[in-house]
Amino acid sequence: MINNPNIPEEIRKVAHDGTALRYALMEMATHPDVIALGRGDPDLDTPSYIIEATQEAIRQNKIPVSPVAGLPELRSAVADKLKRENGLAVDSDNVIITTGGQEGVFLLMQVLLNPGDEVLVPDPRYTSYDQAIESAGGKMVMIPTDHEDAFNLRPEAVEEAITDKTKALLIVTPSNPTGGIVTRKRLEEIAQIAIKHNLIVISDEIYEKFVYDDWEHFSIASVPGMESRTITLNGFSKAYAMTGLRVGYVAAPKDFINGMIKIKAVTSGSAAGVSQVAALNAITGAQQKEAIEGFRAIYAERRQVMMDDLTAMGLDYSDPRGAFFLWTNSSSTGIHATELSYLLLKEGKILIFPGTGFGEQWGGYLRISILQSTDKIREALQRMETVVNNYRVR
Ligand SMILES: Cc1ncc(COP(=O)(O)O)c(C=O)c1O
Repeated sequence: MINNPNIPEEIRKVAHDGTALRYALMEMATHPDVIALGRGDPDLDTPSYIIEATQEAIRQNKIPVSPVAGLPELRSAVADKLKRENGLAVDSDNVIITTGGQEGVFLLMQVLLNPGDEVLVPDPRYTSYDQAIESAGGKMVMIPTDHEDAFNLRPEAVEEAITDKTKALLIVTPSNPTGGIVTRKRLEEIAQIAIKHNLIVISDEIYEKFVYDDWEHFSIASVPGMESRTITLNGFSKAYAMTGLRVGYVAAPKDFINGMIKIKAVTSGSAAGVSQVAALNAITGAQQKEAIEGFRAIYAERRQVMMDDLTAMGLDYSDPRGAFFLWTNSSSTGIHATELSYLLLKEGKILIFPGTGFGEQWGGYLRISILQSTDKIREALQRMETVVNNYRVR
């Protein structure tokens, strides 16, 4: 595939690096007719109760300068939320507000890892973790997950991957890129493994609000014995459609948070005051439940439309239990996913990421996001069908 002359140089040269590959495709998606089903940032508007309260704070010149760890009121509101909704035993000292969850990922790895430490990462993965782990001298060790199991994480697979260098296990539930979730029972079993082998668990729960059908989100830090060994990551980008405002948070034991604060002091200083005001309004506003439920209903409808259209096209996908993605098996087309994504962009004007954006070996999958209106989704999948039919290897 890498030598395929149909694929331009800008794609070929980054084909082995998931993050760079996704960015290269996004940079090529400049045509105004492109329907973007690539990124995972909500296309819906930030709820008006958040915008109005934030505008009012700006008008009244009430944008605070934040301490490094975040505004005390916001840290405390986040701790309350984690207690109330996720069953975590935390208070505000256990919370740091970050400039998006992305910064949280970087800071936590710097504090957690020493050179040579291994981090277990379910495969496929959100590759933005790679650089954070590598820059701290850590090494990723992949744990296989599979389609038949809807990409749920298997406790036996976790235990098999443990060595005397294993420091931590990363869990992303609901998952980017598969839309799978790690079920409560599995998390409880995995927690026992973490305790037995003295592992830290990093639990990325940024998609927690978006689970579908009867699936439930569960936080591993709430299992007895796990609060002292879990680092929970979350943020406002997905739940409140606030990606541009860049607010995330990490909850962990106090000493660990203090380690993160020391590094944050010399990087961004603090998350932006205006964004923290928005986050505080988001999480304390009376309308929050209704706003999130409204989003969830919209995503559930889009998800159904996409499932129906993919099925009609004869493409199989993993059960999308949560998040914004349909992890779609494209191997029946006979076209490697990196090439297929390029063709879909060039010929069909649809931006869809190849599975290889989430691990080099996923050339038989596409990650299709539901972050467009149902009309656009239908249109995109029609275009996709035309491209697939033209290029299908028979
Ligand atoms: C699994 C996962 N974690 C963390 C993030 C970081 O999000 P943000 O920096 O917008 O909070 C993302 C963003 O796409 C994600 O998919």
